[in-house]
Amino acid sequence: SPKSLFSFSLTALSCTAGLAAANPLREQALELFQPLPSTVPAVKDNPITPEKIDLGKALFFDPRMSASGVFSCNSCHNLATGGDDNLETSIGHGWQKGPRNAPTVLNAVFNAAQFWDGRAPDLAEQAKGPVQAGVEMANTPGQVVATLNSMPEYVAWFQAAFPDQPDPVSFDSFAKAIEAYEATLITPAPFDAWLNGDDAALSGEQKQGLSLFIDAGCASCHGGVNLGGQDYYPFGLVETPDAEVLPSGDKGRFAVTATEDDEYVFRAAPLRNIAVTAPYFHSGKVWELEAAVSIMASSQLGADLSEEETAAITAFLHSLTGEVPQVVYPVLPAETSGTPRPDG
Ligand code: HEM
Ligand code: HEM
Repeated sequence: SPKSLFSFSLTALSCTAGLAAANPLREQALELFQPLPSTVPAVKDNPITPEKIDLGKALFFDPRMSASGVFSCNSCHNLATGGDDNLETSIGHGWQKGPRNAPTVLNAVFNAAQFWDGRAPDLAEQAKGPVQAGVEMANTPGQVVATLNSMPEYVAWFQAAFPDQPDPVSFDSFAKAIEAYEATLITPAPFDAWLNGDDAALSGEQKQGLSLFIDAGCASCHGGVNLGGQDYYPFGLVETPDAEVLPSGDKGRFAVTATEDDEYVFRAAPLRNIAVTAPYFHSGKVWELEAAVSIMASSQLGADLSEEETAAITAFLHSLTGEVPQVVYPVLPAETSGTPRPDG
């Protein structure tokens, strides 16, 4: 009868669930990490709409948001190369070298705060920084708004993305649109497939590496959905790394809080896509992922990992390389006679 069929399938279902739960490494991992959601996450105070995403994407790729007309967000957060620039520290306005390595924008929406020192609480606040930073885009909010208002298509796009705003083209809306676009930049990886139950998504060595990543103590700082990006710790908690890797001039969170305890404190870096975002650390001085792993082991844990252990952890970190959403390069509105000219 239909009834007995129904109870049979229920039993079959609970058996499958029982099997999946019986994997102790996965059970342990699910207490420390979460898989990426399969849809674009909600963002506080910024309802995500298709119009906002499209506008934010145009702004992300538009070099005219910089004073020189040379630098867009994508210059330093190149979506074709892991969402970063693969340089030790970024090159910006007037060929100046900035003080820190550019982190990836991929999955940045899941960080508790933005920047190596967490000085921006969210992506909208963050987006206002580079536009104005002298070594990055060297522009002013007024000039950005004037540039946008000079192109009728942009004005129409802002109106569509922010229909309730009396004055839709504003620096705040600029930042919110970019935040909406960045919320779409999420990259499901083999590690997510494995967390979701696909045993074959990780190799034996990667599972061994995951086990070590947990047992050695890496996961205590690099946990959550982004394996980091949530909290702050002294870089050199146990052993101070080389002055080249941790230059004395950059005191990290101390610049934000002016509290002595925060000297050389940095946000535990998010580790998704870490295998494609060399060089490493805020100084960008380390090019090999294995080397970054051993520096972390000694500086943060006082641990001396064997070559095999370092290799296994590194293999695990490769399982965090995700699939980047396909990006169609946007065609941007054309300048008009009213568009401010490039400067510098
Ligand atoms: C940091 C987005 C332009 C270089 C970041 C972060 C985000 C971001 C989300 C924080 C990531 C994290 O903390 O994990 C953007 C957007 C831009 C833009 C939306 C355009 C409006 C640029 C440009 C450059 C650049 C043009 C290079 C000239 C950097 C650097 C950091 C950073 C060096 C780290 C700074 C620090 O921690 O003090 N950016 N970025 N960005 N970006 Fe950009
Ligand atoms: C940065 C891995 C343990 C806190 C990093 C980076 C990697 C990494 C690869 C570089 C990220 C990047 O350049 O984008 C590991 C591994 C660990 C471990 C494999 C275990 C062996 C820890 C622990 C803590 C910690 C236990 C906290 C006590 C940090 C911090 C940074 C960082 C603060 C940023 C350093 C900077 O300012 O450049 N980690 N980590 N890590 N990790 Fe770890």
